[in-house]
Amino acid sequence: MTYTIEAHGLVKRFGARAALDGFDLSVPEGTVHGLLGPNGAGKTTAVRVLTTLLRPDAGAARVAGFDVVRDGDQVRRHIGLVGQHAALDEVLSGRANLEMFGRLSHLRPAAAARRAGELLDRFGLGDTGKKAVKNYSGGMRRRLDLAAGLILSPPVLFLDEPTTGLDPRGRAEVWSAVRDLVARGTTVLLTTQYLEEADQLAHRVSVVHEGRQVAEGTPEELKKTVGGDRVEIVVHDPADLPAAEALLGPSAQGDPDTRRVSAPASDRMATLTRVVQDLRDSGIAADDVAIRRPTLDEVFLHLTSSDRSHA
Ligand SMILES: Nc1ncnc2c1ncn2[C@@H]1O[C@H](COP(=O)(O)OP(=O)(O)OP(=O)(O)O)[C@@H](O)[C@H]1O
Ligand SMILES: [Mg+2]
Repeated sequence: MTYTIEAHGLVKRFGARAALDGFDLSVPEGTVHGLLGPNGAGKTTAVRVLTTLLRPDAGAARVAGFDVVRDGDQVRRHIGLVGQHAALDEVLSGRANLEMFGRLSHLRPAAAARRAGELLDRFGLGDTGKKAVKNYSGGMRRRLDLAAGLILSPPVLFLDEPTTGLDPRGRAEVWSAVRDLVARGTTVLLTTQYLEEADQLAHRVSVVHEGRQVAEGTPEELKKTVGGDRVEIVVHDPADLPAAEALLGPSAQGDPDTRRVSAPASDRMATLTRVVQDLRDSGIAADDVAIRRPTLDEVFLHLTSSDRSHA
């Protein structure tokens, strides 16, 4: 299997501190890969090494088939980068910013103008393209920034926190733009603080902690690693809590405050059917019965909590 983005044992030190400390990554062509990690985990450093802005101290990485150290020019020709902090000219209009990015990417003036117009339309900025960027809202800036990274329709796109600071509508617009790109074959690496974003957009996710990948998989696979599904009953009458616990077996855990009892569920549908039947047979009134999957938030907290950090 060949990967569009791959990294092996990357190390990047700043003074005594290793921002990357044996970082590995494999991203297949045409997929969205999410990097999740707490502040300072090394996500931006990884993106900067992969986009040739930083030289690694050790390890190797290839993007679009080119080595990030030896073939930096080739890598740069195949990628787009939307950084964590917008590189926009405040005084210029959105349109002029995009035209400037196009010219910097060696497009002819007419082609740069055409591409700027297309991208302004695609990101819903067509009407505001003439306004100076200093008068844009945060969401408009992020969309313009994303547009700037797409000037050359690169096959590989790096997005460092593409939706931080956006309202739900702005976020949904960026997500749909990313999905659209992937449908056209673009490979996307994105970092995010929003687990829902990774859940929604990413085919696979790496959890990064202290400069290393500590887990990798589809969002579903990662959720399974923190324990499987649980069956949950909310009893109507708190007095029924012990009976509901008995019904779910020895590993049941009850919480009088929320009237909730839960236990591992090995087989989703069979467990649900059996529990509903058992509740009816024993005359316990329940307000709710459900099978619950762990959320990506629980996975993230489990993997990046400090007591696991040197495991
Ligand atoms: N240019 C630099 N000089 C010194 N230290 C740096 C530099 N860039 C990053 N670091 C340090 O390296 C570590 C990783 O930083 P990085 O920005 O990669 O984290 P991050 O995962 O992107 O965090 P965030 O979620 O806050 O964006 C941090 O401890 C940071 O302070
Ligand atoms: Mg960062």
